[in-house]
Amino acid sequence: MATTTHADVISRIGNTPVVRLDSLSGGATSYWAKMEGYNPFGSVKDRAAYWMIRDAEEKGILKKGKSVIIEPTSGNTGIALVGIARLLGYKVEIVIPDKASQETKDILDRMGAKMYETSDDLCPKVGAGTEQSIALATSIASSRPDTYYSPNQYGNDANFRGHYITTGPEIWEQTGGRITHFFTGVGTGGTITGIGAYLKERNPDIQIIGCQPQRDHMIQGWRNFEESAKPDLFLRREHVVDEWVDVTNEEAFGVVREVLERDSLLISPSAAAVYACMKKLHIPLGYVVGIFADDGRKFGSVYRERGIFGDMEFAEAVRGAAHLSRLEY
Ligand SMILES: Cc1ncc(COP(=O)(O)O)c(C=O)c1O
Repeated sequence: MATTTHADVISRIGNTPVVRLDSLSGGATSYWAKMEGYNPFGSVKDRAAYWMIRDAEEKGILKKGKSVIIEPTSGNTGIALVGIARLLGYKVEIVIPDKASQETKDILDRMGAKMYETSDDLCPKVGAGTEQSIALATSIASSRPDTYYSPNQYGNDANFRGHYITTGPEIWEQTGGRITHFFTGVGTGGTITGIGAYLKERNPDIQIIGCQPQRDHMIQGWRNFEESAKPDLFLRREHVVDEWVDVTNEEAFGVVREVLERDSLLISPSAAAVYACMKKLHIPLGYVVGIFADDGRKFGSVYRERGIFGDMEFAEAVRGAAHLSRLEY
């Protein structure tokens, strides 16, 4: 049997497929999903985590067998950091909002990560009085600067560069340069600014559309800018965003079944929110791409709680969704 090396796993980050959404496509407009769940640790955040660790290694900040990486995250960045850091010889500690899905916490636990739970929003909030996760990570890191390193995905330009150098060019190539509209949600802003800046350089007419969840939302990884300040990373290049589309929890969760039935994809809440935004904005002529940041496997408990699937139905959906990739956890 062939053995999988660390380099093999790392080399599987990126180059995720783009699939056509038959349920939305029609007439002169086609809709496509960039399937980031295909990354080895299951989400778009493999890219940010890898690029931030690589950057810290290049700067000589990390020491194998000694350094501990600590980061506030709603889950996906944590899973990616733990998986990648473990391969490269570093420990990781995660500060996570208690509202993150139980499956996300279970995965981190199984991967051996030390976790600190806070009562933050689903995406750690930034801004006066609301920055518990970030403050906790920063205070632990500053207490032992010789050991701890916090990449700080909310301000780290390597997070932007991962998307500018990889995801943006992949989308341009995969659409043969035909893309007209790009949709994604915003957590740190790395995805929207990295991909947006690259696509605008190739064709300034491409519309970059940000998906904005309601206040008090249930979309793990996203933020609403009325309740939470814009992160530094996003602020540096927010000019790339042409338009915002609002999406409620109900609208997002309302399409999960539809996409399973019509496109045979078991999608995550944030992918559902992107889908709902794409469906909402009438685009008479275009080639539209949205980021599906992860897949639905980690959200069985959330979907059951909201009555979207029963236990058996969810298990059946996981078994039947042929698109689900091999994950490293
Ligand atoms: C689950 C999830 N996390 C994070 C993000 C965005 O990440 P960021 O803005 O931090 O690059 C997205 C974007 O769609 C997402 O769906």
